[in-house]
Amino acid sequence: MIRLTDDWKIIANFYQLQDEDIIFLYENRYFFHEQAQEIVDVFYARLMSVPHLAGMITEHSSLESLRKTQIWYFQTLASDTIDAEYIAGRQKIGAVHAKIGLPVVWFLGGYAIYLRLISDKLDELSVPNGDRIFRAITRRINFDSAIIIDQYTEDLFKENEKYKSKMIDAAKELTALIHQVNGIALEVGRSASTLAQSQEGVVNSVTHLRQDSQKIDELSKFVMEVAAQTNLLGLNAAIEAARAGDSGRGFSVVANEVRNLADRAKGSSQNIKESVWNVISLIDQISDKVENTMAISQEQAASAQELASLIRHLRTTAEKLATEEDN
Ligand code: HEM
Repeated sequence: MIRLTDDWKIIANFYQLQDEDIIFLYENRYFFHEQAQEIVDVFYARLMSVPHLAGMITEHSSLESLRKTQIWYFQTLASDTIDAEYIAGRQKIGAVHAKIGLPVVWFLGGYAIYLRLISDKLDELSVPNGDRIFRAITRRINFDSAIIIDQYTEDLFKENEKYKSKMIDAAKELTALIHQVNGIALEVGRSASTLAQSQEGVVNSVTHLRQDSQKIDELSKFVMEVAAQTNLLGLNAAIEAARAGDSGRGFSVVANEVRNLADRAKGSSQNIKESVWNVISLIDQISDKVENTMAISQEQAASAQELASLIRHLRTTAEKLATEEDN
């Protein structure tokens, strides 16, 4: 007998399942009891011939214990009552298969196997009223599978919701992290460009320094020339003083002093020249190094900018995910 709440009664009715089907199947329960073992054996042989189904069976249970459960299930297809307890039992089957992740398409295939095996057996044994039994069991199986699939989809939906909310939490966390990383990347970018700017300043100062050193070098050359000419003048003066004899002696002292001075000026400007060239060579070294680090910090600033744009992109994606719940 069908003893159900109005909701389920309407559904059973919609599936064309009537009290008379239940009673008729119950009257023929011996067929189901006697054939259960053989039909279930063939049922599992078919399932085990599909590698991923065989894998699921051995992963979650054993063929031995499933066979026993399946025999019980097969026999209940001819039970005399469909009530709340019966519905709860079918819903549990839906929940179990949703939990193990068996796709609905494969589950329903199991019923296709059952119907085929039942039909073949009814024919083989020429069971009286075999056609009527087959029509009644088809309606019952349709109703059974409807309860099971209903629970299946509800559980899959819940699972999906759980997954979705986990995804949203993860996306929110990701957004917060991205925010932090973005801050760091911007800071790196800013300090890299500040560094590049200050190094540009150093390059300018070094350029000025080189120009000034070159001027000093030119000045020292000029001093050397003046010294050479002064020396020549001093030499001429000394010759003239010697010619003038005693009266030129005082002048000769002065002329010699002038030449000494010119020699010392020449020596000092030679030293200045050497020092200036040392300074220029050091400036060149500094300039090379600064230009090198400037290029690196410019590259760093450019990479930081690229990173920031990548992070902006990531943030948009994560925000889209995090706002999924609003959709
Ligand atoms: C006509 C289709 C099917 C029916 C009526 C059916 C029925 C059942 C029943 C009654 C149980 C025991 C549920 C419980 O513990 O309360 C069960 C468990 C199980 N079924 Fe099915 N089944 C079907 C199809 C399949 C298929 C195609 C597979 C293929 C992998 C499968 C794999 C399993 C497994 C692995 C379990 C054990 C789950 C666990 O205890 O963790 N079933 N099935």
